Amino acid sequence: MKLEDIQKREARHFLPVVNRMPVALVEGRGSTVVDVDGREYTDLTAGWGVCSIGHCHPTLVEAIREQAGRLMQTTNLFYTLPQLDAAESLTALSPDELTRVFFVNSGTEAVEGAIKLAHRATGRSEFVSTTNSFHGRTLGALSVIGQAKYRDVYRDLLPEQVVVPYGDVDAAVAAIGERTAAMILEPVQGEGGVNVAPEGYLAALRKRCDETDTLLIFDEVQTGIGRTGRMLAQEHQGVVPDVYTLGKGLGGGFPVAAFVCTEGVAETVQPGDHGGTYIGNPLACASVNAVLSVIENDKLVERAERVGTELSRRLEAFAEAHPAKATGARGLGLLRGLVLADADVAAALPKRALAEGILVNVTAGNVMRFFPALNIPEEQLFEATETLLGLL
Ligand SMILES: Cc1ncc(COP(=O)(O)O)c(C=O)c1O
Repeated sequence: MKLEDIQKREARHFLPVVNRMPVALVEGRGSTVVDVDGREYTDLTAGWGVCSIGHCHPTLVEAIREQAGRLMQTTNLFYTLPQLDAAESLTALSPDELTRVFFVNSGTEAVEGAIKLAHRATGRSEFVSTTNSFHGRTLGALSVIGQAKYRDVYRDLLPEQVVVPYGDVDAAVAAIGERTAAMILEPVQGEGGVNVAPEGYLAALRKRCDETDTLLIFDEVQTGIGRTGRMLAQEHQGVVPDVYTLGKGLGGGFPVAAFVCTEGVAETVQPGDHGGTYIGNPLACASVNAVLSVIENDKLVERAERVGTELSRRLEAFAEAHPAKATGARGLGLLRGLVLADADVAAALPKRALAEGILVNVTAGNVMRFFPALNIPEEQLFEATETLLGLL
């Protein structure tokens, strides 16, 4: 089948809410994907940071195959072992205070769950979030998102919002008060431009939340499970939230997400307060277990830190040597951004990179975002990086 045929067929049937690149992908292995014409690309997007252990990792494929032949779905009326194993693993990798897990199907649903929990735990309904934040696209997640472009078309359906500048302690302290159910933020804003929380910011938020009996929610959908060179990005500042979310890399490609909370928060909910048909689905949880085992066995968290530091060194050196092309580099682990000086160059980059056999994303208008698989071969990563820098 030719790309043009695929494009024509899709144009007839698909809701027109996405702008696609002119490529149809049919296969992936490791950090390489293959299109319908057999052309190979280095994938620096990892399916939006999802394929944390690479495309079609044999351990993950085998775990899904095995579980699919055993038990694919049941209802949440019954115990299942994959879900139990996954829940034990997630609480084990969380700070000691965070003891309770709930599995959902996507990052935005994890955020929804966290919002509902905060409402139940505090009886309050106001949320404070940050500028440029991204938390997903359901109405609950949109009610705390800090980007007008996602929110405004649905404004009539959403409650009033309190948004404070990311990283500004004084603004957050002033906004968080007796009416606030929770402050929600990403420890590193991914979609918003790879913005790292300044040192001390999370601790200051923790203090203000404690003073006002407000919950602190970290959205780790993009940053969790090794992405930033720590299992959880919150570890960089050693601050413990009341609730945090996971998604993306958790399932390595299988749609699964989760939210994790303290015993105190968990005590405020009752059977029936939350649920869903696919909650703790055995295939999804088998994927989580496989991903976590690969990450542990192959020491991919440490690797993300080491390889990410080298990537950062190269991006910073480029920005220093070419201030007219890039104004700086930022990020942690293997979530990195190069800030491009020219918005037109940035806008054209993903298509130009395609022609060079590279999938790369530009976010927040001018930030070239790197979030490859945590096990991408160094040679492949740095060769693609040099090619991209050569396009600027
Ligand atoms: C921080 C954060 N939260 C939530 C989401 C939403 O996740 P999903 O697209 O799986 O619903 C994303 C997705 O990019 C994200 O980066």
